[in-house]
Amino acid sequence: MNDLPPARILAIESSCDETAAAVIENGRALLSSVVASQMDIHARYGGVFPEVASRQHVLSIVPVIEQALAQAHMTLVDVDAIAVTRGPGLAGSLVVGLNAAKGLALGANKPLVGVNHLEGHIYSSWVYEFGTDAPLAPQFPILALLVSGGHTELNLMTDHLTYRRLGATLDDAAGEAFDKTARLLGLPYPGGPSIQKAAEDGDPKAFNFPRARLDSPWNFSFSGVKTSILYEVRRIQAAGNSIPVADMAASFQAAIVDTLLVKTLAAAREFGAKEILVAGGVSANTALREAFLGQTEFKVNIPKFAYCTDNAAMIASAGYFRYALGHRSTLDIDVMPTWPLS
Ligand code: KG4
Ligand code: ZN
Repeated sequence: MNDLPPARILAIESSCDETAAAVIENGRALLSSVVASQMDIHARYGGVFPEVASRQHVLSIVPVIEQALAQAHMTLVDVDAIAVTRGPGLAGSLVVGLNAAKGLALGANKPLVGVNHLEGHIYSSWVYEFGTDAPLAPQFPILALLVSGGHTELNLMTDHLTYRRLGATLDDAAGEAFDKTARLLGLPYPGGPSIQKAAEDGDPKAFNFPRARLDSPWNFSFSGVKTSILYEVRRIQAAGNSIPVADMAASFQAAIVDTLLVKTLAAAREFGAKEILVAGGVSANTALREAFLGQTEFKVNIPKFAYCTDNAAMIASAGYFRYALGHRSTLDIDVMPTWPLS
């Protein structure tokens, strides 16, 4: 893998509610990364409003791409290929980024590389900012825990772009559990950061919420913890008391983090992984980061905070490895809203 060809990739990401573009060199050195967030717009709906997201992408996509190229001191002529998120995500959002990428690829006569958004999240651990010291790249075999708003799964990676799915959530994704629990506790969207903030003043041992240990050791289930919070909230309200939001948020967060850590460590041991990798929006959670980085058995790769939630730097990195290994997409590819990682 050290003999991959040098290349600069322009990447575009628009799978959900962030319009993003980035330029990366040789898959790791990030030259620019621009993210236009729509969070404030969707907050008033309590979640992502797909039609609104799609329209916002249309407004932002060209300026975001222009800014990413300008910050990298480049024009389209200087890039070797254009990578773009093809799925999974909201169809109406994905279409905007994919069509922009196709237009640029056609107009500038550059190869197009369609990238899986989940693969992008995983590759956020390869990214570092150009001009800073390059950290060691993650070493295979890697046990990768993917924890985003729509996905929670364990994959074994024995090489680049190679995933063996060991298990996944049987119901809610971890991020979804954060979002739904926040709503139950009356906390604002997005739920993950809200719960984390509320938990700062809470006792993680105040409530002992269930940690689902399923028959299948590599699967997850988060609906039980959500339901027990619902019952607890109802019980407290029926007794005429106010909800101890901080304690509940801290106890919920502890239950989720504990489950993710225990299962990931067990899988890493069982499958002989050398390192662990955590990726996806929930990897921004400080309690989760402390728990994973606090154990000493495995080296843990976890992206810098800025690259945990949706961005194009991660798509550029994954796009580079795909490009370098010869993957090319034709200009007639379509979006794949439910595209699995493996
Ligand atoms: O990866 P991402 O940005 O989008 C998807 O691909 O789904 O993940 C979004 C999810 C949301 O559910 C959000 O609540 C969660 O990541 N999240 C967090 C934190 N920041 C974002 N969850 C817990 N703690 C956080 N600090
Ligand atoms: Zn994501």
